[in-house]
Amino acid sequence: MDSITKSVFFSLFVSAIFSGMLCGAKATSLFVFGDSYVDTGNRNQSAQSWNSPYGMTWPRRPSGRFSNGRLLTDYLAQAMGTSSPVPYAHLQQYINLPEGVKDGINFAFAGSGVFAGYEPTNFATQVDQFEELLRANLSGLPSLTDSVVLLSTGGNDYLLYLAANGSLQELPAYIVNVTGEIVRNVERLHGLGMKKFVISNLGNMGCAPYVSAVFGFRRCVKEFDLAIAYHNNLLLQGIKASLGSGDDADFVILDQVAAFSFIFHHQYLFGLKHKLQPCCIGMPGTDTYCAQTSESGESLFTLCKNPQTHFFWDHIHPTQAGWAGLTSLFIDNSGFIQSKTPTTNLATWLSCVQTSRLSPL
Ligand SMILES: *[C@@H]1O[C@H](CO)[C@@H](O)[C@H](O)[C@H]1NC(C)=O
Ligand SMILES: *[C@@H]1O[C@H](CO)[C@@H](O)[C@H](O)[C@H]1NC(C)=O
Ligand SMILES: *[C@@H]1O[C@H](CO)[C@@H](O)[C@H](O)[C@H]1NC(C)=O
Ligand SMILES: *[C@@H]1O[C@H](CO)[C@@H](O)[C@H](O)[C@H]1NC(C)=O
Repeated sequence: MDSITKSVFFSLFVSAIFSGMLCGAKATSLFVFGDSYVDTGNRNQSAQSWNSPYGMTWPRRPSGRFSNGRLLTDYLAQAMGTSSPVPYAHLQQYINLPEGVKDGINFAFAGSGVFAGYEPTNFATQVDQFEELLRANLSGLPSLTDSVVLLSTGGNDYLLYLAANGSLQELPAYIVNVTGEIVRNVERLHGLGMKKFVISNLGNMGCAPYVSAVFGFRRCVKEFDLAIAYHNNLLLQGIKASLGSGDDADFVILDQVAAFSFIFHHQYLFGLKHKLQPCCIGMPGTDTYCAQTSESGESLFTLCKNPQTHFFWDHIHPTQAGWAGLTSLFIDNSGFIQSKTPTTNLATWLSCVQTSRLSPL
């Protein structure tokens, strides 16, 4: 063994001890729940994400993803060495699905919330769909013990609350309700047999172009920071309280705020020239949006030259480059995740599913 190989082996050994468990089976499949940050194509053709230029960078045509290319889901699957799981809607459309469900299933629905959201398929409904498939003994499902839940939800609940002029006095109570409902449905997934959870917290909504447009995309709106911190703190406490004790569950929280803030301050490390200015946006001074066309087919949006130099793709969603940057921080560093068992990074955590310990026979 040469010295580099030795040092790699040594660090693997140390991280196995550090994470408090020996690496058993590697996590091999993903069950995904939540909103457009993780939906890889559950909406039908009437959604904006099925129109060009969505998907222009990858797969070079619209794929139902709200980005120019890959999302968190795709990069997490890549880090696990699997394919991105099939969207639930495709299971219903094709009976003999060629790709099958061996890599898991994606139930996430763009526009959905924890409660009402912009779309009725909320988090609880997605868990119902999962439960129905388990009840029906869908063939080819991977072992749930070796699978990982990926969850991103809550953002749409707050966008709607603000759009409906929800009161600021009642916001803390609403945050308690939203995070409580997230935890309740995570507990349902645990009850259905899921053991490993990767849960995204709420990102810097005040930096989303939809919000920062009031400052001409030059700076973030800070007024939401306290509410976001409160949501993220309650989410962490709630998840710790429900999955934090005992040996039969493990979790990692992806700290979107910390990761975004790091990218924001080191943009050139990620090849990004534009932090807040989105690539694809409606015409200035109108309420049109990315990919919208007039009845005569004329574009009602503007598109940047190179989406790979922008963090934001449209009014609310990161580009593929944005997601690649965020995911690389979660995968390779400990500073952007909070986990039940101390771990060096998400890559180590994913490769350390300890099946025998998680489900004693
Ligand atoms: C497409 O989905 C939306 C909900 O997202 C629904 O209201 C609409 O009826 C669907 N359209 C078709 C053609 O299925
Ligand atoms: C699924 O399998 C279980 C256990 O084998 C069985 O009790 C149940 O009836 C099956 N459900 C369906 C819908 O086939
Ligand atoms: C919210 O308030 C704005 C400004 O006062 C008003 O124009 C808008 O109609 C209100 N929206 C709702 C949903 O009540
Ligand atoms: C929170 O949930 C409780 C219980 O369902 C409800 O009574 C209350 O109105 C909710 N508060 C807010 C601000 O949504």
